[in-house]
Amino acid sequence: PATTIENGKRLAAWKAVDDMIDPKNHKVIGLGSGSTIEYALHRISSRPELHSMLYVPTSFQTKQLILQNKLRLATLEECSNGIDLTIDGADEIDNDLCAIKGGGGCLFQERLVAQASEEFVIIADERKKSNNLGSKYARGIPVEIVPMAITSIQRILTNRYTQANIQLRMATPTDKAGPVITDNGNLLLDCHLGPLGRQAATIYQDIKLLSGVVEVGLFCGMAKKAYFGNLDGTVDIWT
Ligand code: A5P
Repeated sequence: PATTIENGKRLAAWKAVDDMIDPKNHKVIGLGSGSTIEYALHRISSRPELHSMLYVPTSFQTKQLILQNKLRLATLEECSNGIDLTIDGADEIDNDLCAIKGGGGCLFQERLVAQASEEFVIIADERKKSNNLGSKYARGIPVEIVPMAITSIQRILTNRYTQANIQLRMATPTDKAGPVITDNGNLLLDCHLGPLGRQAATIYQDIKLLSGVVEVGLFCGMAKKAYFGNLDGTVDIWT
């Protein structure tokens, strides 16, 4: 790994794969999106006993990684018996295992796959540990929105959260002019609401209930464990 942060991601991913995937009993595994999950795919790929099960992606990125690693790809629609375990990254995680997700814009499919899973486990480097959700991740809470609703929802949220900084996520201009378009053809508002304390679950519901909101990047009450790769080479497990 080029940097120590990258090593932290790798350590967390490898330990979660080795601890959590049960080659004897698991048939279907969900895989999240982002840079940390790439290390989980490398680990899975290096262990032939993990090649017989099906892997469900949460993004275009992860679908490509599953195919490139010659693993067996399945769609969520094919999994009539659900998913045994999903492993995913996150942007910030608190002691209750409540997480901000969606820095990579994949929050909707990530949540769909997570809610279909028996177990949900987060992997991250130590920078993502938080004792007050919203205090660390500078971008804020990602909210995926159907394009025709973007102006009205931005206005509603700005009026509701008067201290908030709410921005339409823009693409890098050298790659594409205009906004980021999600894998589902939608737009993203990054909502910086400040530290949430214990309000994360309530805020999730308040925003999710607005018509036109597809998903909110607050995952509370979902993760069973979080693996953190530390700069000193150790891994912390939060339960
Ligand atoms: C993708 O939309 C996100 O939810 C990612 O899981 C999250 O941003 C973590 O990404 P990294 O592993 O690249 O930090």
